[in-house]
Amino acid sequence: MKKKILITGSNGQLGNCLSASLSNYFDVIPSLKNTTIGSLKLDITDKLNVKYIIDRIKPDIIINCAAITDVDLCEKNRAQARNVNFIGLKNLVKYSKKHTKLIHISTDYVFDGLKGNYNEKDPTIPLNFYGKTKLEAENFLIGSNRKILILRLNGLFSSKLKNKNFFSFVYKSINANRKISIVDDQISNPVLVELMPEVIMKAILLDTTGVVHYGSSNVISRYDFAKQICMVFKLNALLIEKISSDKLNQLAKRPLKTSLDTSKIESILEINTYDTNFCLELIKTKYILK
Ligand SMILES: NC(=O)c1ccc[n+]([C@@H]2O[C@H](COP(=O)([O-])OP(=O)(O)OC[C@H]3O[C@@H](n4cnc5c(N)ncnc54)[C@H](OP(=O)(O)O)[C@@H]3O)[C@@H](O)[C@H]2O)c1
Repeated sequence: MKKKILITGSNGQLGNCLSASLSNYFDVIPSLKNTTIGSLKLDITDKLNVKYIIDRIKPDIIINCAAITDVDLCEKNRAQARNVNFIGLKNLVKYSKKHTKLIHISTDYVFDGLKGNYNEKDPTIPLNFYGKTKLEAENFLIGSNRKILILRLNGLFSSKLKNKNFFSFVYKSINANRKISIVDDQISNPVLVELMPEVIMKAILLDTTGVVHYGSSNVISRYDFAKQICMVFKLNALLIEKISSDKLNQLAKRPLKTSLDTSKIESILEINTYDTNFCLELIKTKYILK
């Protein structure tokens, strides 16, 4: 019988992609924070809602993609950020059965960004409140004595321009002939969302547990990534101004070098990572941008 997988945050860029693609292999039940026609409502901060849905669905696996991902919003509205990013995950653990596996999506922002190329054993020192809430959730899961997989990802981008991410911001701005200022001191290995279903499918089939990192095979600054987007999509790179993070006056402090070492996941799942140029070419050739 197919494994039953409950996905939270199915309206988000990752949750949406996993909900669509994993249903080829598993019995997937997507869920949304707010009710829409034909959808399952699951607000992970609402204990009664969580208990009711989990009792009804009886999932073998829960993939938690629900989160407040706006880093500055997390800084400003700390109670809301902690409620979703930590308490929500705690509710999923509390109201699910012991045999239910929890796959939790986490982030490079649990690191301080001083070193870069972080592996799974490196010490976690989040610089902002978003990172702190994500780390609190990780630590709770690790101490929960449950079957868990924590998948730490770097900045996500996807072929869907409606999604809010760095790629869609650069593409839409330059396409509309707007000048943008992009930092050259934030460096990471960003992830194409559309590659994630295969990674998670393999992790489920091989019953991978613990903490693992996934990212692109190259490490790139936001500025160079923006230029790469222009090159691949034949957009005007002259509209990009290079700046440093301190010029942005962002509410939440950003860790600067947060690339993730992917060698563990590559060896245990026997998967490849791909460079950002390849991922952009894939978007260009395989998907219709909208
Ligand atoms: N985005 C990145 O660059 C990045 C990088 C590293 C790791 N991650 C992690 O990857 C995961 C997925 O990120 P993403 O980019 O797909 O995020 P996203 O597009 O912002 O989606 C997050 C989803 O969570 C939902 N949500 C918010 N509060 C909820 C609640 N109380 N109950 C249920 N759902 C709730 C949102 O619903 P509404 O749309 O209705 O508000 C949204 O659909 C997150 O755990 C994030 O921390 C993201």
